[in-house]
Amino acid sequence: LQLNPENSFSISSSCPAFYSPSSIEELANIAKAMDKPFYVLGAGTNTLFVNNVTPAIIHPNFHGIEVKDCGDRVLVSGQSAENWHEFVQFCLNRGYYGIENLALIPGSIGAAPVQNIGAYGVELADVLDSVSWFEFSSQTLRHFTNEQCHFGYRDSIFKHALFGKGIIVSVTLSLSKTWQPKLSYQGLAQLGADASAEQVFNQVVQLRQSKLPDPKELPNAGSFFKNPVVDEDVFNTLQQSYPDMPYYPQRNHQVKLAAGWLIDQCGLKGYRQGNVGVHQHQALVLVNYGQASGRELYQLAQYVQQQVKQKFAICLEPEVRLLDSAGLIHLTEVNN
Ligand code: EPU
Repeated sequence: LQLNPENSFSISSSCPAFYSPSSIEELANIAKAMDKPFYVLGAGTNTLFVNNVTPAIIHPNFHGIEVKDCGDRVLVSGQSAENWHEFVQFCLNRGYYGIENLALIPGSIGAAPVQNIGAYGVELADVLDSVSWFEFSSQTLRHFTNEQCHFGYRDSIFKHALFGKGIIVSVTLSLSKTWQPKLSYQGLAQLGADASAEQVFNQVVQLRQSKLPDPKELPNAGSFFKNPVVDEDVFNTLQQSYPDMPYYPQRNHQVKLAAGWLIDQCGLKGYRQGNVGVHQHQALVLVNYGQASGRELYQLAQYVQQQVKQKFAICLEPEVRLLDSAGLIHLTEVNN
């Protein structure tokens, strides 16, 4: 099966088998028959097909949203194939607050906990109640509380201990009926403390549209790299040479740097290599200008990683998941 429409990089690749379960029964049948590694692909907005072949793909097709009233809070459960942005709109329309800052993030609900999606001062972990996950070995649904998901920056248990062992079926958020804006991100503070939920939502949509290319017009997967988190002493040394460098203090004497700024400083914003390039408005986004292969994007990512390493001695790690025919791979450094 050709996977070209199944990924926001618009890369052609094919898979030996494609399953799209919409019931637990179907999932159990797939689990019984699956004897090879498989990859769970949601909306395909955060995966780069590096080769022209992928492993077997399971594409969840679970739909539906359920709401449970709990006084001042609501538990809203979305099945994994629901579109994230439509879910945000659904909650906003009903006055369930807490995820306005996460508007317009591409992808499905099922993928959201895997990398703990985050933007504009909010991350999924702030509002997640629990995740329902189907385990292949026991063929049962298991329930993970927020704490059990081991959330970190763009990280969770689903990328580690549970990787390749099952599938997220639904995600439950705990949202508030009382509106309280979260305006810590610089582009939102200007709205003022009395901003409505709709205003925050609209501002986030506008900010994203101004910086991030629409994958339908210019295929991409949002931030290609994670913002690197470094020790304070590494940061202090760098800051002496680059006093204007943006940074975000973290816990445990660590500091998060802006990968987009680091790439930009290497003079790579707008850089182009054949069919692929670094986006002209946001250096953290790699784009496919047309007929690119996954290999070309992979090589551009290697080049960007190498340039940043040379200038700042910092190794950028991809946020996008790199998939070849056997499974996920790392971005290795180019050896000169
Ligand atoms: N910057 C530059 N040049 C660039 C890009 C950025 O100088 O080409 C500077 C900006 O001026 C700013 C800083 O770097 O001072 C950070 O940039 P920005 O606020 O645009 O956000 P980001 O760190 O690049 C992260 C997330 C985004 C999220 C935004 C907003 C990661 C990997 N990315 O990007 O998430 O939307 O913050 O909160 O954490 C995604 O994960 O796909 C994604 C888009």
